Amino acid sequence: MSGRFLSLEGIDGAGKTTHLEALERRWRSQHADVVRTREPGGTPLAEKLREMVLHDAMDPLCESLLVFAGRRDHLATVIEPALARGAWVLCDRFTDATFAYQGGGRGFDLAVLGQLESWVQQGRQPDLTLWFDLPPAIAAQRLAAARQPDRFEAMDQAFFERVQAGYRARAEAQPQRFVRIDADQRVEAVAAQLQSELSRRGWW
Ligand code: TMP
Repeated sequence: MSGRFLSLEGIDGAGKTTHLEALERRWRSQHADVVRTREPGGTPLAEKLREMVLHDAMDPLCESLLVFAGRRDHLATVIEPALARGAWVLCDRFTDATFAYQGGGRGFDLAVLGQLESWVQQGRQPDLTLWFDLPPAIAAQRLAAARQPDRFEAMDQAFFERVQAGYRARAEAQPQRFVRIDADQRVEAVAAQLQSELSRRGWW
C-alpha cells in the first residue's frame, strides 16, 4: 500500500474547486481511503488559525507563522498518518501558496519561508501539484462576481500578478512535481487536460 499526496494551487478565481470535486469523486470510485482537505485549515486548530489569517489584519511574518503553525498541526495529525496508512490525500492548497501569496504577493523573505518549510515539513512535499494557471485579469473578472471577499480576494490585480509570478517560480524550480493546467479554457477543456495529465501518471 502506498499513499499519494496531491495538492491543487492557483490564484483566487482560477477555478480549481470544480475540478477538485470531480477528482475526489473519481478517486473515491477507485480507492476506499481518500482524504480531502485544505489549507489554511484541515484540523480544528488550523481552521481557527485560518479564520485569523483570512480576516484579521497582521504583518507578513505573522501571516507566515500562522499558516506554517496550522500546516504543522495538519501534517502531524492528518496528512502524515493518512499517507502512512496508504490513503490518497487531496489537498486544496499547500506550501506553494505560502511562497506565492506571502512570498510573491506580500514580498516576504523567501529564505525565511524556506527555513519555516524545512522545520515544519521535514522534507515532506506533495508528490504532485496541479497548478491552475490563469491570467490575473481574467481571475479578477471572475472574482468580481463572487461573494464577500476575504483579505486576499480583496487585493488588487498587481498583487495577483506577484502571486502568479511566485507560483511560476516554484513551478520552474520543481518541474518534476508541478503539472501546469491551462485554466484559461472552457471548463470541459480544463477537465480534459487534467484527466490526461493524471492518466499518464496512473493517477486518474
Ligand atoms: P481558499 O480561498 O482557496 O480556501 O484559500 C484561502 C486564501 O488563503 C487564498 O486567498 C490563498 C491564501 N493562502 C495564503 O495566503 N497562504 C497560504 O499558505 C495558503 C495555504 C493560502
